[in-house]
Parts: sequence; C-alpha cells; structure tokens
Amino acid sequence: MQFWIGVKNVKTKEEFVMKELQKKVEYFFIDKESELYESAIDLRYREFYEKFNRTRESIFDEIEDKSLKIVACIDNKVIGHARLFIDNSIGEITQVVVEQNYRSLNIGANIVKKLIEEGKKQSVEKICLDARIYAIDFYRKLGFKTNGEIFESKKSGLPHIRMEVYL
Ligand SMILES: CC(C)(COP(=O)(O)OP(=O)(O)OC[C@H]1O[C@@H](n2cnc3c(N)ncnc32)[C@H](O)[C@@H]1OP(=O)(O)O)[C@@H](O)C(=O)NCCC(=O)NCCS
Repeated sequence: MQFWIGVKNVKTKEEFVMKELQKKVEYFFIDKESELYESAIDLRYREFYEKFNRTRESIFDEIEDKSLKIVACIDNKVIGHARLFIDNSIGEITQVVVEQNYRSLNIGANIVKKLIEEGKKQSVEKICLDARIYAIDFYRKLGFKTNGEIFESKKSGLPHIRMEVYL
C-alpha cells in the first residue's frame, strides 16, 4: 500500500520516511553528568578519532569541560553532536557530527543553528570553526565565510579551512 500518497508536501516514500524521522528528532544541551554523554562520546570517537588512530582519551581536551555541548537524539539514541566554546566573546564550534545513516535530514544544520542562537544569548560577537573542505558549503548555508588559506589538520591530516560568522 502506498501509505504516503495524499500526505501534504510528500511525493515519494523516501520523502515520507525522511519527514517522519525529522519529526522524531529532539535536541538537548548536555553536560558530563547526562546519561546521553557517553553515547555522544562514542559518536565523536567513531567520526573524529578512531579513523585517524587517535585515542579515546584525546577527546577530553582542554575545552571539553568548558564547552556547551548539544546532541540530537531519536528515541534517546544520540545521532548528532556539536560543541561551542566561548572565550572573550568569541565562540569556537568543534566536533560537529551527524551519524552516517541520519545525514541530509537537516540535523547538522539545526545543531549549529542552536549553538549560534546560544552564542547570541551570551553576547558572542563571532563564531569561528575549522571546516573540513568538503563541509564548506554546509557551513556557508549557515552564514559562515571562509577566512584564510587551506591547511592540513594536525589531528586528522585532512585539509581544512578557517570559517567565521559575525552574530
Ligand atoms: C557535515 C555534517 C555535519 C552535515 O550534517 P547533515 O545533517 O548531513 O547536514 P544537513 O542535512 O543539516 O545539511 C544542511 C544543508 O547543508 C547541505 N550540506 C550538508 N552537507 C554538505 C556537504 N558535505 N557539502 C555541501 N553541502 C552540504 C545540505 O545539502 C543542506 O542543504 P539545503 O539546506 O540546501 O537542503 C555531516 O555530513 C557529518 O557529520 N559529516 C562528518 C563529520 C564532519 O565532517 N563534520 C564537520 C567537520 S568540520
């Protein structure tokens, strides 16, 4: 049965499934005490550490405890994460990741938007980040502009570029 036919603004089964998933996504600001924290660490480890032979311990860098952390969840499963560190009215976004199977559902954009909103509340002047080259357009759509030359990340060896947005 083509159960999605007649649903408003939905033309295909894929679109229907996508919209149903999007409805289920919840966003939470968390700290280390949260029951979601370990799952967020797992997700970050898989994307940013394991692939580059970095230890799980190196997740706990000098800004980890001081950063505001946001997760996206479906049915209490962490499927997205990012963090914002604020110092002297300048924000730094790091560790933006969405679980592979849940990409292209606007989850990454929503996570970053929520951190930008939070930055505004805290009178942050600008937010910076080091973007992987392949993600430049993702950040451009959120208002970020490139600043400087492409460089190789010391941690992953991947080409990156500095980006920033004034709030
Ligand atoms: C980059 C990442 C966080 C994007 O998350 P996502 O949830 O798939 O992205 P969204 O669905 O929110 O995309 C929002 C918009 O950006 C676009 N976009 C997303 N990723 C993109 C990419 N790699 N290149 C170009 N455009 C991209 C989407 O098409 C969408 O455009 P639209 O609004 O016109 O439809 C995700 O691909 C990821 O986790 N990648 C691996 C980790 C990583 O590289 N993180 C960034 C490190 S700097």
